Amino acid sequence: MDCVQGAKRHIEDCSIDLIITDPPYNLGFGGTSLTKTKKPRFNIIANDNLSNRDYQRFTFQWLRQAYRVLKPGRHIYVCMDWRMYPLVSLWMQRVGFAIKNCLVWDKMHMGMGWQYRFQHEFIIFAVKGNKQTRRISTRKASDIISVPRISGNKTIHPTEKPPELITPLILNSSDSGELVADFFIGSGPVAEAAIKNGRKLIGFEVDSKYYKLTTDRINKLKL
Ligand SMILES: C[S@@+](CC[C@H](N)C(=O)[O-])C[C@H]1O[C@@H](n2cnc3c(N)ncnc32)[C@H](O)[C@@H]1O
Repeated sequence: MDCVQGAKRHIEDCSIDLIITDPPYNLGFGGTSLTKTKKPRFNIIANDNLSNRDYQRFTFQWLRQAYRVLKPGRHIYVCMDWRMYPLVSLWMQRVGFAIKNCLVWDKMHMGMGWQYRFQHEFIIFAVKGNKQTRRISTRKASDIISVPRISGNKTIHPTEKPPELITPLILNSSDSGELVADFFIGSGPVAEAAIKNGRKLIGFEVDSKYYKLTTDRINKLKL
């Protein structure tokens, strides 16, 4: 279901220990991989082709819910593209998050493009409010995380993140048994990393195809 409606209906104030999420970047993206007949393998993801005004409204709506449900002083990670980073980090501050760092996911292999081919994405790291109640649990974590991207022909979602990218964020920012939320669950890498590491999970996905991929993925983990 829609994450804004879902959060309103299902999540109490200040009840979530950690949020890790990968929202639409509003770049009209359906992935770069093609079928044998040169057709795109994926459709453009939901809410990724909005007018600037609608994207701002949509982002404020889910950010306000994210702020409401997160426990004070706890961490939120928001995956973001360099083009939308300035706006989204500003909007996060407007709802009350304190930005602490911008992590860089080094995908280790070049992607598409011809003027400096894409090899990174950002992850905005922030805290709810000004008083941090939890610190990163290691001093060895760098703000560059090098994890290979999933190669184009193996992806099951156009903007897929590997669970290995998410695992250190979960281990650094939550304890076993705590509750992690992902507002845009996609194919479920946050779900997999959370459950494998003994965390509880609540997540939302509007596209029934991706919802099913994630539930199948979780069910396989439980076997
Ligand atoms: C950037 S993708 C997340 C991809 C995910 N990180 C993965 O690795 O598979 C964003 C996802 O959010 C979903 N989505 C878009 N708008 C939504 C909304 N209002 N509520 C819940 N899910 C939404 C899209 O269908 C898409 O699967």
